[in-house]
Amino acid sequence: MQAEERGRFCSKLGVILASAGSAVGLGNVWRFPSEVGSNGGAAFILVYLCFVFLIAMPVMIAEFVIGRRSKRNTVDAYRVLAPRARWWMVAGYLGVLGGVLVLSFYSVVAGWTLRYMVDTFLCRMPSGQDYGAVFSSFAANPWKPLLYQLVFLAMTHLIVSRGVERGIEKFSKVMMPLLLVIIVVLMGYSLTMPGAADGISFLLRPDFSKVTGSVVLSAIGQAFFSLSVGMGCLITYSSYFSKDTRLVSSAFSVCAIDSVVAILSGLVIFPAVFSVAGVEPDAGPGLVFITLPYVFDTAFSGLPVVGYVFSGFFYVLLLLAALTSTISMHEIVTAFIREKFNVSRQRAAIAVTAVCMVLGAACCLSFGVWQGVRVAGMGFFDLFDFTVAKFLMPFGGIMISLFVGWYMKRQLVVEELTNGGTLKVRCLGVLLFLIRWVAPTGVAIVFINELIN
Ligand code: ALA
Repeated sequence: MQAEERGRFCSKLGVILASAGSAVGLGNVWRFPSEVGSNGGAAFILVYLCFVFLIAMPVMIAEFVIGRRSKRNTVDAYRVLAPRARWWMVAGYLGVLGGVLVLSFYSVVAGWTLRYMVDTFLCRMPSGQDYGAVFSSFAANPWKPLLYQLVFLAMTHLIVSRGVERGIEKFSKVMMPLLLVIIVVLMGYSLTMPGAADGISFLLRPDFSKVTGSVVLSAIGQAFFSLSVGMGCLITYSSYFSKDTRLVSSAFSVCAIDSVVAILSGLVIFPAVFSVAGVEPDAGPGLVFITLPYVFDTAFSGLPVVGYVFSGFFYVLLLLAALTSTISMHEIVTAFIREKFNVSRQRAAIAVTAVCMVLGAACCLSFGVWQGVRVAGMGFFDLFDFTVAKFLMPFGGIMISLFVGWYMKRQLVVEELTNGGTLKVRCLGVLLFLIRWVAPTGVAIVFINELIN
């Protein structure tokens, strides 16, 4: 398939915003603040940032090298680059599996977000109730969350089926700036709330006594999840990059945007949380769907309109973040099916959406009528999340860094990183060292530790 038929990103901004969109997601707005809250605040952030720049970013750059060099989907990329060692394609197949699994469980949370957004704007959010019970009863409902999830998957489908330039790039160029504007405005308001100083200090004051082995493990898992590395999303996206795209600086920009959005999300959430007496900041995943509705209800009780606008836009933010990520998950699989079976993009996208609707429904129902259905002791939602975060992403990260660091010829890698020698990349030696040694070793230690545990 020719590059024109495959599609490509048309501008440097498109490359950065689409890749940053893949990275910025529920991981930043939903998972990061709850991890910070449960793992001791700023100490967690510092450990996290070290992993982002020393381990996850080199893996991201390795993905860019594979994708742009091969100009293929994440499976065929290995076939093209390693024709005599086809077993590397296993890494690509695991990426495709990861894309399907993430899309299936992720769309459940995105569906919840959609419902909270709609209800907020329609002024239908419950007031003065037990928010935990409200959330559990919604999540356990046999059809309502399913409906929202299907609508969300349909939105993802529509963008992906329009193609790389007219779909992914165009929508990322609208959604990412909108997301950044919303987050800055919400943060501005949040910082004026009473108790904001406590929220900021919770987020920014490091407490190193909290940095235990398990905090370190959570930080690296979060870095991989948040940057979408290890699954081939970025191999697929970079196969649409032009020969002039600067791989190293693009990866740095994506990591910087992703980290800034994660920290800004904390600066939206924690000042608001601390403005209401008696609310604990370490509520874990319930922070966004249980704690925050209570906070919004209580903090804005005298200003209901401001409350609706603030909380409505918070859920818009979450939804945009989710959508920019799910299109990249969908694209891993759509590109693979399209090129493997030589079918149109529309047909490939329909197949992916249909499979994810079925598997996603299983994840959604695992909070309700299928609560008792367990595989390896877990419901489908937890099982998919566990398989991706604890197995597929770290394993993929190790394979990708070994492939670029050890299997590919150094000269080819340098050629990609320097755009054929036309760019001067500072710290090239350090970067290659990180890809060859630090990334695979670091991830392997975490991976083995997880397996033992
Ligand atoms: N990178 C995506 C996120 O952070 C998966 O949510």
